[in-house]
Amino acid sequence: DKPVTILDLHRKYQAGEPIVMVTAYDYPSALLADRAGVDVILVGDSLGMVVLGYETTEPVTMEEMLIHIRAVRRGAQRAFIVGDMPFGSYEASNEEAVRNAFRLMKEGRAHAVKLEGGRRMADRVRAIVQSGIPVMGHIGLTPQSVSALGGFRVQGRTAKEALALIDDALALQEAGCFAIVLEAVPVEVAAAITERLDIPTIGIGAGNGVSGQVLVYHDLLGMFDRFTPKFVKQYASIGSAIEEALRAYAQDVRAGAFPAEEHTFHMADDEREAFQH
Ligand code: KIV
Ligand code: NA
Repeated sequence: DKPVTILDLHRKYQAGEPIVMVTAYDYPSALLADRAGVDVILVGDSLGMVVLGYETTEPVTMEEMLIHIRAVRRGAQRAFIVGDMPFGSYEASNEEAVRNAFRLMKEGRAHAVKLEGGRRMADRVRAIVQSGIPVMGHIGLTPQSVSALGGFRVQGRTAKEALALIDDALALQEAGCFAIVLEAVPVEVAAAITERLDIPTIGIGAGNGVSGQVLVYHDLLGMFDRFTPKFVKQYASIGSAIEEALRAYAQDVRAGAFPAEEHTFHMADDEREAFQH
């Protein structure tokens, strides 16, 4: 299969075909996502919560993102790979934003970057896009500002907030984003934004009126149970399958049932005889 390009994504969007995006953070998860035929792999800074065990995404560093983006790139031969810009890597200035976006592209070998924020980030987006790097926007619930938002909660429930979200989306489109993630917004608002834009919207907790969907790998596989938002559909219970397997292993070892004969190496007969004298 040929690698997915930004043109392929736009073709899907134009044809009204939903874009399928999932996060992944390492080689094996990228391999499986790629094999499953997803269009876009997001190496999200959700990495911090589901893989590194931080309380929020705020502590995630450029170095951590780079290690994981590179691992995903090695696992995925076909999917389009978006690298998240971590908190603190793009807010201070256009120059810093461009420099760190280049690192995700050149050291991480991402195909595009994503950053959080609407109109207030339009300048950053424009600067990165003008330097030749595709940018995906992200508005609604933006986990990097969860301290400022006062927790993980749905955004744009009031008419006033909804209008502000439409304005944010238009500003990001105008600044040059090739797509925008809408996280945890009412279906009415996400659909209205999608209607207004001529770039794809990728929803997570944004209903079915968007141009594509994204879920966090560990959420959809049932591997993260610290909390499960309403918008997650669990397609498997991999976490409990893993725990069960590990329990069985521990039990076998303690009972002397593992390793069995079929897991065991032997010397050749003559060597064993020589060895025993
Ligand atoms: O980091 C992440 O996984 C994300 C998605 C939830 C869009 O930003
Ligand atoms: Na993110």
